[in-house]
Amino acid sequence: SATILAACMFGSASAGGLTVGFSQIGSESGWRAAETTVTKEQAKKRGIDLKFADAQQKQENQIKALRSFIAQGVDAILIAPVVETGWDDVLKEAKEAKIPVILLDRTIKAPDDLYLTAVTSDLVHEGKVAGDFLVKAVGDKKCNVVELQGTTGSSPAIARKKGFEEALAGHDNLKIVRSQTGDFTRTKGKEVMESFLKAENGGKDICALYAHNDDMAVGAIQAIKEAGLKPGKDILVVSIDAVPDIFKAMSEGESNATVELTPNMSGPAFDALDAYLKDKKAPPKWIQTESKLYTPADDPMKVYEEKKGQGY
Ligand code: AHR
Repeated sequence: SATILAACMFGSASAGGLTVGFSQIGSESGWRAAETTVTKEQAKKRGIDLKFADAQQKQENQIKALRSFIAQGVDAILIAPVVETGWDDVLKEAKEAKIPVILLDRTIKAPDDLYLTAVTSDLVHEGKVAGDFLVKAVGDKKCNVVELQGTTGSSPAIARKKGFEEALAGHDNLKIVRSQTGDFTRTKGKEVMESFLKAENGGKDICALYAHNDDMAVGAIQAIKEAGLKPGKDILVVSIDAVPDIFKAMSEGESNATVELTPNMSGPAFDALDAYLKDKKAPPKWIQTESKLYTPADDPMKVYEEKKGQGY
Protein backbone atom coordinates (compact mmCIF):
# COMPACT_ATOMS: atom_id res chain seq x y z
CA SER A 1 0.00 0.00 0.00
CA ALA A 2 1.00 3.66 -0.30
CA THR A 3 1.82 3.88 3.39
CA ILE A 4 4.17 0.93 3.23
CA LEU A 5 5.87 2.32 0.16
CA ALA A 6 6.44 5.66 1.83
CA ALA A 7 7.90 3.95 4.88
CA CYS A 8 10.23 1.92 2.66
CA MET A 9 11.30 4.93 0.60
CA PHE A 10 12.35 6.75 3.72
CA GLY A 11 13.92 3.66 5.20
CA SER A 12 11.85 4.06 8.34
CA ALA A 13 12.09 1.29 10.92
CA SER A 14 8.75 2.24 12.35
CA ALA A 15 5.28 0.89 11.64
CA GLY A 16 4.19 4.53 11.89
CA GLY A 17 1.85 5.76 9.18
CA LEU A 18 0.21 2.38 8.94
CA THR A 19 -3.45 1.62 9.44
CA VAL A 20 -3.99 -1.49 11.54
CA GLY A 21 -7.33 -3.12 12.37
CA PHE A 22 -7.64 -4.69 15.82
CA SER A 23 -10.43 -7.16 16.48
CA GLN A 24 -10.67 -7.50 20.26
CA ILE A 25 -12.81 -10.15 21.98
CA GLY A 26 -14.49 -7.79 24.43
CA SER A 27 -13.73 -6.80 27.99
CA GLU A 28 -14.55 -9.94 29.98
CA SER A 29 -11.58 -9.56 32.34
CA GLY A 30 -9.25 -7.00 33.85
CA TRP A 31 -6.47 -8.58 31.81
CA ARG A 32 -8.42 -8.13 28.57
CA ALA A 33 -9.16 -4.47 29.34
CA ALA A 34 -5.46 -3.91 30.03
CA GLU A 35 -4.50 -5.54 26.74
CA THR A 36 -6.81 -3.11 24.94
CA THR A 37 -5.32 -0.12 26.78
CA VAL A 38 -1.75 -1.22 26.06
CA THR A 39 -2.51 -1.86 22.38
CA LYS A 40 -4.00 1.62 21.98
CA GLU A 41 -0.97 3.14 23.77
CA GLN A 42 1.49 1.15 21.64
CA ALA A 43 -0.26 2.21 18.43
CA LYS A 44 -0.27 5.86 19.48
CA LYS A 45 3.40 5.78 20.43
CA ARG A 46 4.29 4.37 17.01
CA GLY A 47 2.05 6.68 14.99
CA ILE A 48 -0.21 3.81 13.90
CA ASP A 49 -3.83 4.54 13.05
CA LEU A 50 -5.58 1.77 15.02
CA LYS A 51 -9.09 0.76 13.97
CA PHE A 52 -10.58 -0.87 17.06
CA ALA A 53 -13.52 -3.29 17.00
CA ASP A 54 -15.00 -4.84 20.16
CA ALA A 55 -16.66 -8.18 19.33
CA GLN A 56 -18.58 -8.53 22.59
CA GLN A 57 -17.48 -12.17 22.92
CA LYS A 58 -18.93 -13.21 19.54
CA GLN A 59 -16.90 -14.89 16.83
CA GLU A 60 -19.37 -13.73 14.17
CA ASN A 61 -18.62 -10.13 15.16
CA GLN A 62 -14.90 -10.80 14.84
CA ILE A 63 -15.38 -12.28 11.37
CA LYS A 64 -17.47 -9.22 10.38
CA ALA A 65 -14.78 -6.88 11.73
CA LEU A 66 -12.08 -8.69 9.76
CA ARG A 67 -14.14 -8.46 6.56
CA SER A 68 -14.65 -4.76 7.16
CA PHE A 69 -10.90 -4.24 7.75
CA ILE A 70 -10.18 -6.10 4.50
CA ALA A 71 -12.71 -3.95 2.62
CA GLN A 72 -11.08 -0.82 4.04
CA GLY A 73 -7.68 -2.03 2.81
CA VAL A 74 -5.88 -1.80 6.15
CA ASP A 75 -2.14 -2.53 6.17
CA ALA A 76 -2.38 -5.27 8.81
CA ILE A 77 -4.82 -6.92 11.21
CA LEU A 78 -4.44 -7.90 14.87
CA ILE A 79 -6.95 -10.36 16.26
CA ALA A 80 -7.43 -11.95 19.68
CA PRO A 81 -9.49 -14.95 18.53
CA VAL A 82 -12.29 -15.79 20.95
CA VAL A 83 -12.37 -19.50 20.04
CA GLU A 84 -9.93 -21.92 18.40
CA THR A 85 -11.82 -23.02 15.30
CA GLY A 86 -13.74 -21.51 12.39
CA TRP A 87 -11.24 -18.95 11.10
CA ASP A 88 -10.01 -20.50 7.85
CA ASP A 89 -12.35 -18.74 5.40
CA VAL A 90 -11.88 -15.20 6.65
CA LEU A 91 -8.12 -15.67 7.03
CA LYS A 92 -7.96 -16.89 3.43
CA GLU A 93 -9.73 -13.68 2.39
CA ALA A 94 -7.13 -11.60 4.26
CA LYS A 95 -4.35 -13.60 2.64
CA GLU A 96 -5.80 -13.07 -0.83
CA ALA A 97 -5.95 -9.33 -0.08
CA LYS A 98 -2.27 -9.55 1.02
CA ILE A 99 -3.06 -8.26 4.48
CA PRO A 100 -0.86 -9.79 7.20
CA VAL A 101 -2.76 -11.04 10.24
CA ILE A 102 -1.21 -11.35 13.69
CA LEU A 103 -2.87 -13.40 16.45
CA LEU A 104 -2.78 -11.95 19.94
CA ASP A 105 -2.84 -14.00 23.16
CA ARG A 106 -4.89 -16.95 21.86
CA THR A 107 -4.05 -19.65 19.35
CA ILE A 108 -6.25 -21.14 16.62
CA LYS A 109 -6.58 -24.40 14.75
CA ALA A 110 -5.79 -23.39 11.17
CA PRO A 111 -2.89 -23.82 8.73
CA ASP A 112 -0.13 -21.46 9.86
CA ASP A 113 0.33 -19.91 6.43
CA LEU A 114 -2.95 -18.08 7.07
CA TYR A 115 -1.35 -15.74 9.61
CA LEU A 116 1.98 -13.97 9.95
CA THR A 117 2.69 -14.84 13.58
CA ALA A 118 1.02 -15.46 16.93
CA VAL A 119 2.09 -13.56 20.05
CA THR A 120 0.99 -15.76 22.94
CA SER A 121 2.18 -17.38 26.12
CA ASP A 122 2.66 -21.14 26.30
CA LEU A 123 -0.91 -21.75 27.42
CA VAL A 124 -0.39 -25.40 28.38
CA HIS A 125 2.70 -24.46 30.36
CA GLU A 126 0.71 -21.86 32.35
CA GLY A 127 -1.68 -24.55 33.50
CA LYS A 128 1.27 -26.79 34.33
CA VAL A 129 2.93 -24.05 36.41
CA ALA A 130 -0.31 -23.56 38.36
CA GLY A 131 -0.69 -27.33 38.84
CA ASP A 132 2.93 -27.83 39.91
CA PHE A 133 2.50 -25.11 42.50
CA LEU A 134 -0.57 -26.79 43.92
CA VAL A 135 1.00 -30.26 43.99
CA LYS A 136 3.88 -28.84 46.03
CA ALA A 137 1.65 -26.76 48.32
CA VAL A 138 -0.61 -29.72 49.12
CA GLY A 139 2.09 -32.34 49.72
CA ASP A 140 0.71 -35.77 50.62
CA LYS A 141 -2.66 -34.52 51.84
CA LYS A 142 -5.86 -35.66 50.13
CA CYS A 143 -7.11 -32.67 48.13
CA ASN A 144 -10.36 -32.20 46.21
CA VAL A 145 -9.88 -29.51 43.58
CA VAL A 146 -12.58 -27.48 41.85
CA GLU A 147 -11.81 -25.86 38.50
CA LEU A 148 -13.26 -22.73 36.92
CA GLN A 149 -12.66 -22.96 33.20
CA GLY A 150 -12.35 -20.09 30.76
CA THR A 151 -14.62 -19.52 27.77
CA THR A 152 -15.67 -22.83 26.21
CA GLY A 153 -13.80 -23.51 22.98
CA SER A 154 -11.14 -20.88 23.64
CA SER A 155 -7.50 -21.92 23.45
CA PRO A 156 -6.63 -20.79 26.99
CA ALA A 157 -9.54 -22.80 28.46
CA ILE A 158 -8.51 -25.93 26.57
CA ALA A 159 -4.77 -25.58 27.12
CA ARG A 160 -4.82 -24.41 30.74
CA LYS A 161 -7.00 -27.39 31.63
CA LYS A 162 -4.61 -29.74 29.85
CA GLY A 163 -1.49 -28.32 31.49
CA PHE A 164 -3.02 -28.45 34.96
CA GLU A 165 -4.11 -32.05 34.48
CA GLU A 166 -0.59 -32.91 33.32
CA ALA A 167 0.82 -31.50 36.54
CA LEU A 168 -1.64 -33.50 38.66
CA ALA A 169 -1.02 -36.77 36.81
CA GLY A 170 0.62 -39.30 39.11
CA HIS A 171 -0.42 -37.39 42.25
CA ASP A 172 -3.45 -39.41 43.13
CA ASN A 173 -4.10 -37.50 46.35
CA LEU A 174 -5.22 -34.52 44.22
CA LYS A 175 -8.46 -34.95 42.32
CA ILE A 176 -10.50 -32.51 40.22
CA VAL A 177 -13.99 -33.10 41.59
CA ARG A 178 -15.84 -30.32 39.73
CA SER A 179 -15.01 -28.37 36.59
CA GLN A 180 -17.20 -25.85 34.84
CA THR A 181 -16.88 -22.72 32.74
CA GLY A 182 -17.01 -19.32 34.42
CA ASP A 183 -16.44 -17.59 31.07
CA PHE A 184 -13.38 -15.68 32.33
CA THR A 185 -15.65 -13.22 34.22
CA ARG A 186 -15.86 -12.26 37.88
CA THR A 187 -19.64 -12.57 37.99
CA LYS A 188 -19.70 -16.05 36.51
CA GLY A 189 -16.72 -17.10 38.62
CA LYS A 190 -18.62 -16.17 41.76
CA GLU A 191 -21.84 -17.78 40.57
CA VAL A 192 -20.25 -21.10 39.62
CA MET A 193 -18.16 -21.17 42.80
CA GLU A 194 -21.37 -20.76 44.81
CA SER A 195 -22.76 -23.85 43.12
CA PHE A 196 -19.51 -25.78 43.78
CA LEU A 197 -19.65 -24.81 47.46
CA LYS A 198 -23.25 -25.95 47.77
CA ALA A 199 -22.54 -29.25 46.06
CA GLU A 200 -19.44 -29.94 48.17
CA ASN A 201 -20.75 -29.83 51.73
CA GLY A 202 -20.80 -26.04 51.95
CA GLY A 203 -17.21 -26.02 50.71
CA LYS A 204 -15.87 -28.21 53.53
CA ASP A 205 -15.03 -30.94 51.01
CA ILE A 206 -13.05 -28.57 48.77
CA CYS A 207 -9.34 -28.18 49.38
CA ALA A 208 -8.35 -25.99 46.42
CA LEU A 209 -9.66 -23.86 43.59
CA TYR A 210 -7.92 -23.61 40.22
CA ALA A 211 -9.31 -20.75 38.10
CA HIS A 212 -8.23 -20.23 34.48
CA ASN A 213 -8.00 -16.50 35.20
CA ASP A 214 -7.69 -14.14 38.15
CA ASP A 215 -11.04 -12.44 37.60
CA MET A 216 -12.92 -15.69 38.13
CA ALA A 217 -10.72 -16.34 41.19
CA VAL A 218 -11.59 -12.91 42.61
CA GLY A 219 -15.30 -13.67 42.15
CA ALA A 220 -14.84 -17.11 43.72
CA ILE A 221 -12.93 -15.65 46.69
CA GLN A 222 -16.00 -13.53 47.42
CA ALA A 223 -18.23 -16.61 47.24
CA ILE A 224 -15.92 -18.55 49.60
CA LYS A 225 -16.02 -15.70 52.13
CA GLU A 226 -19.80 -15.47 51.91
CA ALA A 227 -19.94 -19.21 52.62
CA GLY A 228 -18.09 -18.54 55.88
CA LEU A 229 -14.77 -20.07 54.79
CA LYS A 230 -11.31 -18.55 54.46
CA PRO A 231 -10.00 -18.35 50.89
CA GLY A 232 -6.26 -18.96 50.77
CA LYS A 233 -6.46 -21.13 53.92
CA ASP A 234 -9.56 -23.34 54.04
CA ILE A 235 -9.58 -23.39 50.26
CA LEU A 236 -6.31 -22.73 48.42
CA VAL A 237 -6.65 -20.39 45.43
CA VAL A 238 -4.47 -20.62 42.31
CA SER A 239 -5.11 -18.73 39.09
CA ILE A 240 -3.59 -17.08 36.00
CA ASP A 241 -3.02 -13.50 34.67
CA ALA A 242 -1.44 -11.50 37.54
CA VAL A 243 -3.98 -8.64 37.53
CA PRO A 244 -3.61 -6.04 40.31
CA ASP A 245 -6.64 -7.26 42.30
CA ILE A 246 -5.20 -10.75 42.77
CA PHE A 247 -2.14 -9.18 44.44
CA LYS A 248 -4.44 -7.34 46.80
CA ALA A 249 -6.11 -10.65 47.61
CA MET A 250 -2.67 -12.23 48.02
CA SER A 251 -1.56 -9.54 50.44
CA GLU A 252 -4.66 -10.33 52.49
CA GLY A 253 -3.82 -14.04 52.49
CA GLU A 254 -6.75 -14.89 50.21
CA SER A 255 -4.86 -16.03 47.13
CA ASN A 256 -1.92 -18.44 47.05
CA ALA A 257 -0.49 -18.08 43.56
CA THR A 258 -0.95 -16.60 40.12
CA VAL A 259 0.86 -17.10 36.81
CA GLU A 260 1.64 -13.87 35.01
CA LEU A 261 0.40 -13.14 31.51
CA THR A 262 1.66 -9.87 30.08
CA PRO A 263 -1.04 -7.58 28.66
CA ASN A 264 1.60 -6.25 26.26
CA MET A 265 1.08 -8.59 23.31
CA SER A 266 0.90 -5.73 20.80
CA GLY A 267 4.42 -4.39 21.42
CA PRO A 268 6.07 -7.57 20.08
CA ALA A 269 3.36 -7.79 17.40
CA PHE A 270 4.07 -4.28 16.07
CA ASP A 271 7.84 -4.99 16.20
CA ALA A 272 7.32 -8.11 14.10
CA LEU A 273 5.12 -6.18 11.69
CA ASP A 274 7.78 -3.50 11.35
CA ALA A 275 10.48 -6.01 10.49
CA TYR A 276 8.18 -7.77 8.06
CA LEU A 277 7.03 -4.68 6.20
CA LYS A 278 10.40 -2.95 6.18
CA ASP A 279 12.83 -5.80 5.56
CA LYS A 280 10.41 -8.52 4.41
CA LYS A 281 11.75 -10.42 7.40
CA ALA A 282 9.18 -13.08 8.26
CA PRO A 283 8.88 -13.49 12.02
CA PRO A 284 8.77 -16.93 13.65
CA LYS A 285 5.23 -18.36 13.65
CA TRP A 286 5.16 -18.10 17.44
CA ILE A 287 6.45 -15.23 19.56
CA GLN A 288 6.28 -16.55 23.10
CA THR A 289 5.70 -14.40 26.17
CA GLU A 290 6.80 -15.36 29.69
CA SER A 291 4.78 -17.24 32.34
CA LYS A 292 6.11 -16.24 35.76
CA LEU A 293 4.72 -17.64 39.00
CA TYR A 294 3.91 -15.18 41.80
CA THR A 295 3.22 -16.19 45.40
CA PRO A 296 2.75 -14.24 48.65
CA ALA A 297 6.56 -14.35 49.03
CA ASP A 298 6.84 -11.83 46.16
CA ASP A 299 5.76 -8.70 48.04
CA PRO A 300 2.24 -8.61 46.55
CA MET A 301 1.51 -4.96 47.42
CA LYS A 302 4.67 -3.84 45.65
CA VAL A 303 3.68 -5.83 42.56
CA TYR A 304 0.15 -4.39 42.86
CA GLU A 305 1.57 -0.85 42.66
CA GLU A 306 3.85 -1.71 39.73
CA LYS A 307 1.03 -3.39 37.82
CA LYS A 308 -1.14 -0.30 38.14
CA GLY A 309 1.03 1.52 35.62
CA GLN A 310 0.96 -1.27 33.05
CA GLY A 311 -2.38 -0.85 31.35
CA TYR A 312 -4.40 -1.69 34.47
O1 AHR B 1 -6.52 -15.16 26.28
C1 AHR B 1 -6.09 -14.70 27.51
C2 AHR B 1 -7.17 -14.81 28.53
O2 AHR B 1 -8.32 -14.14 28.12
C3 AHR B 1 -6.84 -14.20 29.87
O3 AHR B 1 -6.11 -15.04 30.70
C4 AHR B 1 -8.20 -13.95 30.41
O4 AHR B 1 -8.25 -13.10 31.51
C5 AHR B 1 -8.81 -13.36 29.19
O5 AHR B 1 -10.13 -13.21 29.22
